[in-house]
Amino acid sequence: SLCLCSMHSVCVVLLFTSGVLGQSSSALNKQWEEWKVKHQKVYNNQSESLYRREVWEKNLQLVLRHNQEASAGQHTFTMGLNHLADMTAEEVNEKLNGFKMKDPNHFRNWTSKQVSDAPIPSSVDWRKECMVSPVQNQGYCGSCWAFSAVGALEGQMKKKTGSLIPLSPQNLVDCSTNDGNNGCCGGFMTSAYKYIIENGGIDSEQSYPYEEKVNLRKCRYTSEGKAGECFGFQVLPQGDENILQYIVATVGPISAAINANLRTLHFYEGGVYNDPDCHNYILNHAILIVGYGTDQGEDFWLVKNSWGTGWEEAGYLRLARNRNNLCGIAKDAVYPKV
Ligand SMILES: *[C@@H]1O[C@H](CO)[C@@H](O)[C@H](O)[C@H]1NC(C)=O
Ligand SMILES: *[C@@H]1O[C@H](CO)[C@@H](O)[C@H](O)[C@H]1NC(C)=O
Repeated sequence: SLCLCSMHSVCVVLLFTSGVLGQSSSALNKQWEEWKVKHQKVYNNQSESLYRREVWEKNLQLVLRHNQEASAGQHTFTMGLNHLADMTAEEVNEKLNGFKMKDPNHFRNWTSKQVSDAPIPSSVDWRKECMVSPVQNQGYCGSCWAFSAVGALEGQMKKKTGSLIPLSPQNLVDCSTNDGNNGCCGGFMTSAYKYIIENGGIDSEQSYPYEEKVNLRKCRYTSEGKAGECFGFQVLPQGDENILQYIVATVGPISAAINANLRTLHFYEGGVYNDPDCHNYILNHAILIVGYGTDQGEDFWLVKNSWGTGWEEAGYLRLARNRNNLCGIAKDAVYPKV
């Protein structure tokens, strides 16, 4: 069989090359049914189901076309029909992002350049040092800012105490409501750190588990559940990938934001993501940079996302590095001081 690959979209290409692009509707129906089972999709009624099928089919065409171009060497990454495939771009951006840019200069006065000439490694992966907790799924809640903020703090706490303890994004979603933070409707990592400083700590994920919604704004922080704290935070200079690289190498996982508007990113499946349309001026999604490296000559940032492990590569993205600040990765980076 030609279908030895582990990446399902490649199989899709082989099955449907004569494809949407001309495949029998029964093959397409089968594909749709299988996709729904795999991603546990159930729709309320017939019209909703028909609409979702239509959206899915458009996305399928997009993915097939992209992967055909990728196999012809035109792209450095592939796309796949993941759990977002029945959603429009607008829906993904509304429901799964949530980094705010209303005030792009938010706490910009906390910026300082602290770079020395000391050499840094050519690749870094903080997962290998146990500084990164497992990938989670924010669900249909614009809480990426909270996941990103706890991610960088988990790394700094591990560095300080020796243990990696997952911290609670829900604590931030419910309780960090000042300085522009607004639960599932978005927020800033800087404001989250400000809350943690003023609150005197943040609970562990175990003592304050994620709920995928704002709990009626009921803050349930307890000092018994506290597992992290910080005393300040450092905002990085805007747009400088060299400084960002130095900070990732010397400090640990860094909280950052990207432009996550594009379909190519929603359906990212593997490889080094490099869509030239991913501009760097409007950012809408917070993530965690956990390292960097180079793959077949392509420099990349190793990025932890919060869209579950079904979003490839196992919840991680390799985003092109040194490509003129692609997707704005170096525009809003920050880390907490513990
Ligand atoms: C079908 O379900 C959708 C989504 O839940 C809903 O918005 C719509 O009103 C429903 N339509 C009917 C006819 O019940
Ligand atoms: C930054 O500015 C804010 C108000 O815009 C102020 O509250 C804060 O103290 C300043 N921080 C520093 C480190 O200067």
